[in-house]
Amino acid sequence: MSKCTVSISEGSILDLEAVMAVMEDSFDPAYGEAWTAAQCAGLMPLPGVWLSVARQHEKVVGFALGRIVLTEAELLLLAVKRIGRRRGVGQLLLDRFRLIASAKGASKLHLEVRDGNPAMNLYRRAGFTEAGRRRNYYTGRDGQIYDALTLMRETFI
Ligand SMILES: CC(C)(COP(=O)(O)OP(=O)(O)OC[C@H]1O[C@@H](n2cnc3c(N)ncnc32)[C@H](O)[C@@H]1OP(=O)(O)O)[C@@H](O)C(=O)NCCC(=O)NCCS
Repeated sequence: MSKCTVSISEGSILDLEAVMAVMEDSFDPAYGEAWTAAQCAGLMPLPGVWLSVARQHEKVVGFALGRIVLTEAELLLLAVKRIGRRRGVGQLLLDRFRLIASAKGASKLHLEVRDGNPAMNLYRRAGFTEAGRRRNYYTGRDGQIYDALTLMRETFI
């Protein structure tokens, strides 16, 4: 997948099926990080929540789900299909999250990631720093427990 043929646009509940296809492809069920369709459908219509989708040739290959409350925005989910990884699509979605959050008035960005998730490299490179740790936050398929790290950055840096 070439990055230059990927476009990012705002999505809606109509993209839920495509989003779930990316979700199932992306998140390793071993770690218990993925959301269900019901969780996504419940959140997407709420005020302050937005979906960005990465499309290539009309097909959804990645997405980001964000939420803002007052001046604090949170990246709730970020995923790119396995076949299209390491070509900058995750970075594009993260940039769009920051852009939209800023436009909506956010001064701080937050996210949460499983300790050990390689996505940490992406977030660190984008200027996020560790703000806290939620112990025993994720329960994997085999019952194994993982901590979550909370990361943050200001929008202006
Ligand atoms: C995290 C994720 C969205 C990254 O998507 P991506 O399109 O591959 O990311 P990018 O190509 O934009 O990566 C940009 C940079 O981030 C870092 N990075 C991204 N994925 C990485 C990985 N698996 N291992 C190490 N570094 C990684 C690298 O520095 C990379 O730059 P490089 O390829 O030039 O070295 C994707 O791996 C994914 O969907 N993972 C499963 C879902 C998930 O865990 N989401 C995050 C928690 S919500």
